[in-house]
Amino acid sequence: ARPSRGNVPGTDFSPVAPNTADLVVTAEGYEQGIVIRWGDPVVPGAPAFDFNKQTAAAQEKQFGYNNDFAELVPLDPNGNENLLVVNHEYTTETHMFPGYDENNPTEEQVRIAWAAHGLSVVFVKRAGGGLKPQPSKYNRRITLNTPFELRGPAAGSDYLKTSADPAGRTVLGTQNNCSGSLTPWGTILSGEENFNQYFGNADSITEPTAKQRLDRYGIKGATSTRKWERFDKRWDVAQEPNEVNRFGWIVEIDPHDPQSTPVKHTALGRFKHETASIQVADDGRVVAYSGDDERFDYIYKFVSNGKMKRGASALARRHNMALLDDGTLYVAKFTGNSPAGEIDGTGKLPADGKFDGTGEWIPLASGKKSFVPGFTADEVYIFTRLAADKVGATKMDRPEDIQPNPVNGLIYCALTNNTNRGSAGHAGAVEANPRVGNKHGHVLEMDDDTAGTKFRWNLLLVCGDPNDPSTYFGGFDKSKVSPISCPDNVAFDRHGNLWISTDGNALKSNDGLFAVPVDGPERGRVKQFLTVPNGAETCGPVIRDRVVTVCVQHPGEIDGASADNPASHWPDGGNSQPRPSVVAIWRKDGGEIGRR
Ligand code: FEO
Ligand code: CA
Ligand code: CA
Ligand code: CA
Repeated sequence: ARPSRGNVPGTDFSPVAPNTADLVVTAEGYEQGIVIRWGDPVVPGAPAFDFNKQTAAAQEKQFGYNNDFAELVPLDPNGNENLLVVNHEYTTETHMFPGYDENNPTEEQVRIAWAAHGLSVVFVKRAGGGLKPQPSKYNRRITLNTPFELRGPAAGSDYLKTSADPAGRTVLGTQNNCSGSLTPWGTILSGEENFNQYFGNADSITEPTAKQRLDRYGIKGATSTRKWERFDKRWDVAQEPNEVNRFGWIVEIDPHDPQSTPVKHTALGRFKHETASIQVADDGRVVAYSGDDERFDYIYKFVSNGKMKRGASALARRHNMALLDDGTLYVAKFTGNSPAGEIDGTGKLPADGKFDGTGEWIPLASGKKSFVPGFTADEVYIFTRLAADKVGATKMDRPEDIQPNPVNGLIYCALTNNTNRGSAGHAGAVEANPRVGNKHGHVLEMDDDTAGTKFRWNLLLVCGDPNDPSTYFGGFDKSKVSPISCPDNVAFDRHGNLWISTDGNALKSNDGLFAVPVDGPERGRVKQFLTVPNGAETCGPVIRDRVVTVCVQHPGEIDGASADNPASHWPDGGNSQPRPSVVAIWRKDGGEIGRR
């Protein structure tokens, strides 16, 4: 059956059918336009992009590679003027450079890659339905060469000192920034995720404790994929053993102050942060939720000691940024309420009709106090995964984005997939991760006692083809929903509908963006709003009343493709090289998104 239109405000559009077009395909009645692409100018003096004549100096001033998270930070109440803030997660050198030699990258190629990482801040104005970049004092590139201040309880720890930074308080740059969020005080949080892949020579470390710490974070092998260690010893674990401890943090950027020094917050722990997002407790304390995107890793939260100052002044921003340096870090333990025997790993609903239960936040450290036997507080913050392993936290199916719903106050987390669930030597099905060989992922809904230590939870979606009996769509009629696979990012419209972007669709369609009501009779009615081009992932959705933006990441990145053999020609068509880009989508008649 074809999914029908439905009529919940915000999701009232005709769903896009699964497809493999090398285009952004939107719901009928919508228009699209590129906002900015890899290589487009960001700061003054940026040269026009020339794919065949790239330089590091140019890339430092141009939009970076592989846009992931994006946010529109409003500068006026009508939403006409915004700061577009974007993460540039990673580089794919074989797609960036024609004739690239994986064994012998040139120094200039490596320096281009350093400059293509980080974030961009771009002033954008509404124009003809879409968004147009403007020259502005706010425009900024943050790269792997930008100084960051390490803050919070572990700043200055011996584990964070290097020969370039004997104080352990200043790090050059940020990398593998995946998802993020806008804080209530107008700054951007961004998660350093698969930072491990950039470090070489881990194999030479044999001292058991150091080796265990590297292993748990996936830092292994001799040479790294990108060979950066040949051009700067900080990427060589044998020469600079602590540099790797200076990545894997939540970073905070103040886009309103282009001169500000970005921050790495050690109090939020070090792991493969997909993101961190803020919920404010009734008493004004702030709570940051974060997931560790790895098979069988954990969900965390941080609760501040101090209280949020309201208002948008620079003084309030400074005060609120410091909240994330002083508080308590917790990890989540999930308990199902159905008998274990009813969770058989097939996704069959237990007798009570729901995958649901209660949970507990287990404290790991607070300030300089550790709650984990055998770990100092610094060790909890810096080797957080190993500390969390000790306290009985629940191993999840790759926690990706986690964000509070501003309308109903519940927390939503995408668990993208985990095909190892239930395989030999691994944890089996539990009510919070109920399928073995979980190919398509699920979406968790949490009712958290914000600053407290208890929560309730249930699974809103168990993803896949609705004809697959292991799927669950919030109890809604499965003949009326769009297939969805590998949820990654989550966002909300002003009605509180959940919007989900996907990465790695295992249903033979391109990835896309979906909307789903979470309350009322259409709870669970998943509808596809758009699909992205071949090989691309849909990232960083922003849902505003009259415009939606998505980041199209790694178009054309499929096995065997490269700059010499491109598998996508999006967005410029013809024989052009694919370029990761931010796309705006709006209604042709100028009306509200998802309303008739
Ligand atoms: Fe970069 Fe967890 O996706
Ligand atoms: Ca149950
Ligand atoms: Ca992601
Ligand atoms: Ca992902």
